[in-house]
Amino acid sequence: MNFTRADFPEGFVFGTATSAYQIEGHRFGGAGKTHWDSFAATPGNVVRAENGAVACDHYHRMEEDLDLLADLGADAYRFSTSWARVLPEGRGPVNEAGLDFYDRLVDGLLARGIKPAATLYHWELPSPLADLGGWRNRDIAGWFADFTATIMDRIGDRLWSVAPINEPWCVGWLSHFDGYHAPGLRDIRATARAMHHVLLAHGRATQVMRGLGMQNLGAVCNMEWSQPADDSPETHAAATAYDALYNRFFLGGLFHRAYPAEVLAGLEPHLPESWQEDFGIIAEPLDWLGVNYYTRKLITHAPGPWPNYREVDGPLEKTQMGWEIYPDGLRDFLIRTARDYTGNLPLYVTENGMAHADSPDLPDTARIDYLTRHLNAARAAIAEGVPLKGYFTWSLMDNYEWTLGYEKRFGLVHVDFDSLQRTPKASYQALSKWWR
Ligand code: FCB
Repeated sequence: MNFTRADFPEGFVFGTATSAYQIEGHRFGGAGKTHWDSFAATPGNVVRAENGAVACDHYHRMEEDLDLLADLGADAYRFSTSWARVLPEGRGPVNEAGLDFYDRLVDGLLARGIKPAATLYHWELPSPLADLGGWRNRDIAGWFADFTATIMDRIGDRLWSVAPINEPWCVGWLSHFDGYHAPGLRDIRATARAMHHVLLAHGRATQVMRGLGMQNLGAVCNMEWSQPADDSPETHAAATAYDALYNRFFLGGLFHRAYPAEVLAGLEPHLPESWQEDFGIIAEPLDWLGVNYYTRKLITHAPGPWPNYREVDGPLEKTQMGWEIYPDGLRDFLIRTARDYTGNLPLYVTENGMAHADSPDLPDTARIDYLTRHLNAARAAIAEGVPLKGYFTWSLMDNYEWTLGYEKRFGLVHVDFDSLQRTPKASYQALSKWWR
């Protein structure tokens, strides 16, 4: 990597990200069942029907993992809290062992001089709440606010930053329209409700944390650069619709108190009654916005019902996920987001990285190259005046990649999923040279 800290603004924060269900080992420590457990147990949903029951067993190996983070020279660590670990039924009785776990995690980070950056929800909804309709049920905003109060009452005094929900697009669209993530629905009414309720829950949780006097509260949205596959007006309209659904819907709600017309064209009849009245809660002012960025999509027109787009295989070099490598999208998203939505508000890249089929002794050059190119894209955005304040790599270690099981390796640290042994990869060494 051909740069150093001196090439980034003073105080720029470097870190890595993980999430609870992907690393902790959900069967340990008294956590309740989640919709990812049942989704994974349903044949055809997840590669080899793998689940997060053991994952990286971070639950028992936390100290070792925090040492890896410290040796890497990370300034901050973005982790998530599991709702069902804290409240096994989603509401009601607290699992004290769960609260203790996050308490130790936060103290372990602070003891190593690492900033704790928490996400409250990274996708494993407690099953009893899924039984009540999950994200389709408006009551989820209140359930989530109560969970927020419970966990923040314990760790909120020591966190550096908090985002309530990871990637609302995945919670709403991917899980309720595409059916690709739990709960695996393919239903437009469920989608409209989930997409709106996820923002409402975000707003309620933010209000709860403001009430506790907490600071540095944000939101984390994933973005995919959408490019028309050809020059026809129909194809352009399809690419615009994809961009609206994926990227502009959530930013519109959070920062403009409005949803894009291209999305309302399909979802409006299915949104809950009086949805416009919720923007007062949804648009609760934030201290920062996080952007998760991995790839672009080439989009073309698809005949038939709304939303009339489909993805086309692109010509660029691809990662193990089959995702095209397109660093310019990161630069352009940061510039556009600041220009059209967030102005002077600090931005963070809260996830970026690549999956690569590797073993610990491979040179890992593809990942080093991917990270270098994206860090250069981040620098280009800064040079254009974007107030980018930090960058988090996904992920500290190989982990459970949801529907794709344990095969897709995103880690800076290799994990042997039989022995659970951790081995830093060359990308870890490369980053640690200039992070430390
Ligand atoms: C993001 C998710 C994260 C991981 C990466 C590859 O969308 O937030 O959990 O799956 O993609």
